[in-house]
Amino acid sequence: MRTGKFGMNNLFNGIYKNCTVLVTGHTGFKGSWLSYWLKQMGANVVGYALEAPTKPNHFELLDLDIESVIGDIRNQDKLDSILEKHQPDIVFHLAAQPLVRLSYSDPIQTLETNIIGTARVFEACKKTKSVKAIVNITSDKAYENKEWLWGYRESDPMGGHDPYSASKGCAELITNSYRNSFFNIDKYGVEHNILLASCRAGNVIGGGDWAQDRLMTDIVLSAVANNKVKIRNPHATRPWQHVLEPLSGYLAIGQKLLEGNKSYAEAWNFGPSDEKSITVEEVFNNIKKYWDKIDYEIDSNKNQPHEANLLKLDCSKAHFKLNWSEVWSSDKTFEKTAMWYKTFYEVNKVNTLSDLEIYISDAVNKGRIWATS
Ligand SMILES: NC(=O)c1ccc[n+]([C@@H]2O[C@H](COP(=O)([O-])OP(=O)(O)OC[C@H]3O[C@@H](n4cnc5c(N)ncnc54)[C@H](O)[C@@H]3O)[C@@H](O)[C@H]2O)c1
Repeated sequence: MRTGKFGMNNLFNGIYKNCTVLVTGHTGFKGSWLSYWLKQMGANVVGYALEAPTKPNHFELLDLDIESVIGDIRNQDKLDSILEKHQPDIVFHLAAQPLVRLSYSDPIQTLETNIIGTARVFEACKKTKSVKAIVNITSDKAYENKEWLWGYRESDPMGGHDPYSASKGCAELITNSYRNSFFNIDKYGVEHNILLASCRAGNVIGGGDWAQDRLMTDIVLSAVANNKVKIRNPHATRPWQHVLEPLSGYLAIGQKLLEGNKSYAEAWNFGPSDEKSITVEEVFNNIKKYWDKIDYEIDSNKNQPHEANLLKLDCSKAHFKLNWSEVWSSDKTFEKTAMWYKTFYEVNKVNTLSDLEIYISDAVNKGRIWATS
């Protein structure tokens, strides 16, 4: 295990070194990147999730040296026993059914996993003395989407047109209710010792995502098969960002909670600046610059399930209160993503460590507080 080229152990004020961290959803796209980064910082990582949802998958490619438990978050007894056994300091909750289209075909499983599963994770934390912090990962889709031209703020109402979005809106309401009822900041240090925050990010890209129906998966698999990818919704605008960007936000919030900063036990948006809210078609043209095998056509089938067209986040709170900002330009985000897959398919190499090191080095050069203090 390499540590320290950019002072990995010192990032986030060194809080994660020797910290025991439970990551739910560690076999998934974001969870595997997060577990990898935590491990690089010297954390003792315990993962709890179902088997990796795709083949290939980033988790297996990383061959992560962590305690990996295969289990369902709906299984309260198993969750309780894993937390009891490992006594984590902090829990990052990412396990979910994260796909809008799958939520149309299997709404009950989506709702049970994302709503009840989240409550079960909180229940297990409530019973475990060691837990000081919980960071619950929801989504920008938790907001009631009014197709506004401006971004949603943390205080805007929750909603959800499709079952996935509704499940994430509910997961936010449950977070709030647990924060009021069991992890109330006014009773922190007296009746309980847990600070709970939630994080809402938009669509992320980056190497190692093969989830069904995601744009990068469609692009990559079509390129490898020398096919044109069909774009369903070319004018849909999304706040694209590299997976490392929201992860730096989640880790920064985790740091504040572990340090006992009660005022951070709230909801947080982590999204890119306006410049990166671009259409699906523009994403394509950007990625194609780095991998010329990529080609596309517009899918004219009008019989598609509803998908939101415009969804932006207002991240002023993270900028001003947490001092968090993105690190990479949109061009670098697309370059790194395209190159990760190109390198994987053409020379069978996984670029995760070098992407992480470059990201951290760029964060240091840009003076990001989590990388420099
Ligand atoms: N990827 C994105 O663009 C994006 C955007 C916004 C929010 N999110 C949220 O981030 C989180 C991670 O998403 P991802 O893209 O890594 O998804 P993913 O599908 O790659 O990973 C999901 C993880 O959850 C686990 N899981 C699913 N059901 C489970 C269950 N019942 N019990 C235990 N584990 C279970 C899977 O095994 C996997 O480890 C999710 O909460 C998702 O809603 C993702």
